[in-house]
Formats: sequence, structure tokens, C-alpha cells
Amino acid sequence: MSDLLIDARGLHTYYGQSHILRGIDFQVGRGETIGLMGRNGMGKSTLLKSLMGLVKPRGGSVSICGQDMTGAAPFEIAQRGIAYVPEGRGIFGNLSVVENLKMAARAGTRGQRDWTYERVLETFPRLAERLGHGGQQLSGGEQQMLTIGRALMTNPDVLILDEATEGLAPLIAREIWRICDLIKQSGISSVIVDKNWKHVTQVTDRNVILVKGEVVFAGSSDELRATPQILEQHLGV
Ligand SMILES: Nc1ncnc2c1ncn2[C@@H]1O[C@H](COP(=O)(O)OP(=O)(O)OP(=O)(O)O)[C@@H](O)[C@H]1O
Ligand SMILES: [Mg+2]
Repeated sequence: MSDLLIDARGLHTYYGQSHILRGIDFQVGRGETIGLMGRNGMGKSTLLKSLMGLVKPRGGSVSICGQDMTGAAPFEIAQRGIAYVPEGRGIFGNLSVVENLKMAARAGTRGQRDWTYERVLETFPRLAERLGHGGQQLSGGEQQMLTIGRALMTNPDVLILDEATEGLAPLIAREIWRICDLIKQSGISSVIVDKNWKHVTQVTDRNVILVKGEVVFAGSSDELRATPQILEQHLGV
């Protein structure tokens, strides 16, 4: 089995006539935690959607575990072990916390069942206290935890988080970062999009910065922290 879980090459993605991704290479290795950064509208979510098959790139290729999955449907990508938590959540509001979690349960690509219902509840004590609540009755932070918990129930090889801390109170955001760390310790690779580069680089090994649909920086978290002019130039911090 390839140790490159995701290997995207030369991606070009459009919305109608708008050329958004302009030749992006993006790789995720086994066990790697990767930060994807860039100002608003630079193409981060479009890259994630292109990897997931939610938008079809017009050029380039996407391989998952060495298998060409270019143009595959989102469910096929998910079955290959890639779990995606989109911007703005996406739980089933009319189902309870228990139902949301249990319906997602399945073994991973290597038959692994590391993330059980019990382990998810241990990881998210707040959810454990709200098992019978409907998704709609949860706070924004709890909904985010439920979405991440549900993704973990699929025992993914890669977890993709798009702006998981967006709009959350600092204390709840901190809880999400703690969970990102736990996920990393558990050996799952992740791709994290977040506006807070300090938190991102605390948990990531490698980071990619996009400007107008192109990769302008790819390097380690140490390298990024040591080069504040890159952060200033491309993120405006
Ligand atoms: N469904 C769509 N149809 C048309 N244009 C879109 C669509 N979604 C995004 N865009 C445009 O594509 C560009 C990239 O958007 P994208 O959502 O990938 O950016 P982003 O880096 O995730 O930004 P943010 O930090 O605001 O989430 C933007 O110019 C955006 O306006
Ligand atoms: Mg986005």
C-alpha cells in the first residue's frame, strides 16, 4: 500500500468561467498533519472539494492510496478512507446525537475499528451529556464536535477539517484543537484549514499556503514560524 494517502497533481478547477485552482500539487502522507492556509477566497475549500469529488477538476489527477480516483464521486472517495468535515457543519438536525454517531459507524480501509462509539464519547464528554438531544438543539461548538465525532466513527485514514473553529467561542475552539491533537496522536492524517495560523502550526507537521489558486509556500511548521515575512505577505499577519 502506498504511503501517500492523497496525491493530487496539477489540479485545475473552475466554477463556470472562473479559473480557481491553477495547477495545484497537494500530497498527504500516512500519519501527516497538514495545515492549508491562505486569505479568504484563495481556493482552500475548492481544493478540499476537488479532492473529495464534490467539484470535478478540469485538469490534473487525484490518487488515493496509489489508486487513480480522478473524477470519482464523493462517496467513493469517502470509502477510500477520506472523511470530510465541510465549512458550516452538516449534521442531521432531526436525528439525535446517538443516531448521528451510530449511523456513521464503519470499519476503516484496513478493517480498523479504533474509533468506536464509546471512544468518541470519551473524546467528546460534552456530547456524552447530550445523547438524546436532536442535532438542532446543540450549540454551534457541540454541532462541530458531533460532525467531527461522526467523521471519526468512519475510522478514516485522513480527516479533512474545513474551518472547524470558525465562529466558536475561544474555550470551545480550544477544545477542538485538543481534539485535533488527539486525532494526530491516534495516527490519523489530517488536513486542517483554519484562520489561526498559530494554532494550526502547533498541531501540523507541514503547511501549504494558497494565493489565488496557486501554492506559494509548502514547508514545515518550524520553517514557517521562522519566516514571519511569509506569514505577513500571504496571510497578512
Ligand atoms: N460555488 C461557487 N461558484 C462560483 N464561485 C465560487 C463558488 N465557490 C467558491 N467560489 C469562488 O472561488 C474562489 C475560491 O473560493 P474558496 O471557497 O475555495 O476560498 P477559500 O480559500 O476557502 O476562502 P474562505 O477562507 O473564505 O473560506 C472565490 O473567489 C470564491 O468566490
Ligand atoms: Mg473556505
